Amino acid sequence: MNNKHILLKNYAKYSDNEVVEKSQLFFNKMNSRRTVRTFSSELIPVQVLKNAIKTANTSPSGANKQPWHFVLVQSAKMKKKIRIAAEKEEKEFYSNRASKEWLKDLEPFETDENKPFLETAPYLIVVFEEKYKIAPNGEKAKNYYTKESVGLACGILLTALHNVGIATLTHTPSPMKFLAEILKRPKNETPFLLIVAGYPEVGTVVPNIKRKKLNEILTII
Ligand SMILES: Cc1cc2nc3c(=O)[nH]c(=O)nc-3n(C[C@H](O)[C@H](O)[C@H](O)COP(=O)(O)O)c2cc1C
Repeated sequence: MNNKHILLKNYAKYSDNEVVEKSQLFFNKMNSRRTVRTFSSELIPVQVLKNAIKTANTSPSGANKQPWHFVLVQSAKMKKKIRIAAEKEEKEFYSNRASKEWLKDLEPFETDENKPFLETAPYLIVVFEEKYKIAPNGEKAKNYYTKESVGLACGILLTALHNVGIATLTHTPSPMKFLAEILKRPKNETPFLLIVAGYPEVGTVVPNIKRKKLNEILTII
């Protein structure tokens, strides 16, 4: 071993029974995650959001480039700005841009261009994909597998928030370019997801949809 490598720490080794039980319990926990579209305005300590974003930053990434940036929006003024711009895009989407097939597929969710949750929820997390890096001298440097890496980081972020009872909505107002403009992000970053985070409003209902069965998604060879 040289100083380019360090000893792997903190990988607990459980008995077979324990590992099966723990994996089942974690599945039960994650199986209760649902996308929420009605949020309470109740405040959440910002440290919780910072910890969840730190957890997202533990994600693997192509050549460890960590090609992500998170903008945590808590300012009411900024949330309003984002809502106005998102609703403008979504109005166009629902009335003109979306295909008939797409609108049909969205029917179970009863979504439309109105996005009040963008102002009600205490936090919006806007995730940016860093397509390439800009070195201090202004030169471009490569990032790799940016979509895969940012997707993984977002999955870990949703898991971290669900773990502490914070509900999320992965929102993709289409197109999302306005987010880069409003939030003044550099040109090497592209908006990836707008994640709404907060406690669910009391009495929240969610679409009655089903998850695929294991035999539909898994082949063991
Ligand atoms: C990439 C992505 C984009 C999504 N965009 C929207 C969206 O713009 N609006 C919305 O209401 N839900 C959106 N969703 C949420 C999905 O509709 C939801 O995850 C799906 O119906 C499964 O429901 P569940 O998350 O409750 O299991 C999106 C989900 C993903 C992964």
